[in-house]
Amino acid sequence: MSPKEFVRRRKHLMSMMGEGAIALLPAAPVQIRNRDAEHHYRQDSDFMYLTGFPEPEAVLVLIPGRKQGQCILFCREQDPSMTLWNGPMAGLEGAVESYGADDAFPISDLDEILPGLLEERETVCYTMGARPDFDQRVMGWVNQVRSKSRSGVHAPEEFVSLDHLLHELRLFKSRAELKAMREAATISVKAHKRAMKICKPGMYEYEIEAEYLHEFRRHNSVPAYSSIVGGGNNGCVLHYVDNRDELRDGDLLLIDAAAEVECYAADITRTFPVNGKFSPAQRALYEVVLDAQLAAIKAVKPGNHWNDPHDATVRVITEGLLKLGLLKGKLDNMIESEAYKRFYMHRVGHWLGMDVHDVGDYKIGDEWRMLEPGMVLTIEPGIYIPIGSKGVAKKWQGIGIRIEDDVVVTKDGHLVLSEKAPKHVDEIEALMNG
Ligand code: GLY
Ligand code: MN
Ligand code: MN
Repeated sequence: MSPKEFVRRRKHLMSMMGEGAIALLPAAPVQIRNRDAEHHYRQDSDFMYLTGFPEPEAVLVLIPGRKQGQCILFCREQDPSMTLWNGPMAGLEGAVESYGADDAFPISDLDEILPGLLEERETVCYTMGARPDFDQRVMGWVNQVRSKSRSGVHAPEEFVSLDHLLHELRLFKSRAELKAMREAATISVKAHKRAMKICKPGMYEYEIEAEYLHEFRRHNSVPAYSSIVGGGNNGCVLHYVDNRDELRDGDLLLIDAAAEVECYAADITRTFPVNGKFSPAQRALYEVVLDAQLAAIKAVKPGNHWNDPHDATVRVITEGLLKLGLLKGKLDNMIESEAYKRFYMHRVGHWLGMDVHDVGDYKIGDEWRMLEPGMVLTIEPGIYIPIGSKGVAKKWQGIGIRIEDDVVVTKDGHLVLSEKAPKHVDEIEALMNG
């Protein structure tokens, strides 16, 4: 992503904040995995969105209209002993030269410098509650300024939720963001095809997961979330991530796995037969889910609202379940009473971006939000019939199916970033047996 992109985003945010405001945004903390071992560092998405700065121990301060500089980055200073262990770091010069800060200060000077920056600012834009340790520090700085009121210093009087402004920006993806998301989807599609080609009865779920990791890493990406690789009945566990069982002849395999590129996620699910051939029952249910997914994708266009794709899946899935005898009754009654929820219990999808479940409001006031160009969402209906489901014929039990694609709202309708991952029955069988 080019430095200009970050300048543009900061400018946009500052124009929303208005003069007289100040925004404070800390980088993600390092997370300890156990004892001396750290989790792989992932920058906070909001912080990354505005800076592109990948290091921990940093704070971004935006001060619109400030003559001496509007964008200040506090970060770690160059330290040869740290570089020895952890590799190169930006340092103060890098923060200015490579990341476009107007000024940079050592993170160790934050407590000393920040109260002065708050003086004469009316509004503090800050996300309260996400980082209790940082909340305390913000309060401390504000109180420090308040304590100087007798000497005529004005302390900020208003707190505004930074999320609210920033997440509205993040909801609409720029060309550069869509490029990263397309790249993440393309790598993920390669991984799904690789899994379909290699899968056979007797393999283990973790072996299939390894194929995804191989494909992600060899393209310089990381998993966007913990991969779900569930054979047979495990496909009915919505957040199954143990991925430890043997794959059995005659079962389906549900895989929800995708890559992250430059902190932008894909989110793709495919379901296919372990042995390369759908049984008649599997095929019948699969085609209901696929029809529902296609109907929902069709409903992704400007002017439709957020809930239209969901409503489309509910109708098609309920019709399908009635036709197959899994529900009994009248279509409209079944929809109204939400009878379908026994087998389709989640919603059709979510916003997608730097976070897999990305930021952005789904409702404006009490109304579902209209879809607009630049929004990206997942479309992922499913049907899940666990073993032991009462009153359900044996042939349906142990079948979990979800089909998930990543869809951009465009001026004329939509674009499916993950469309090259096979999802039609014939396509899947041809690839698996090719
Ligand atoms: N992979 C998480 C989801 O599909 O929402
Ligand atoms: Mn998913
Ligand atoms: Mn999803």
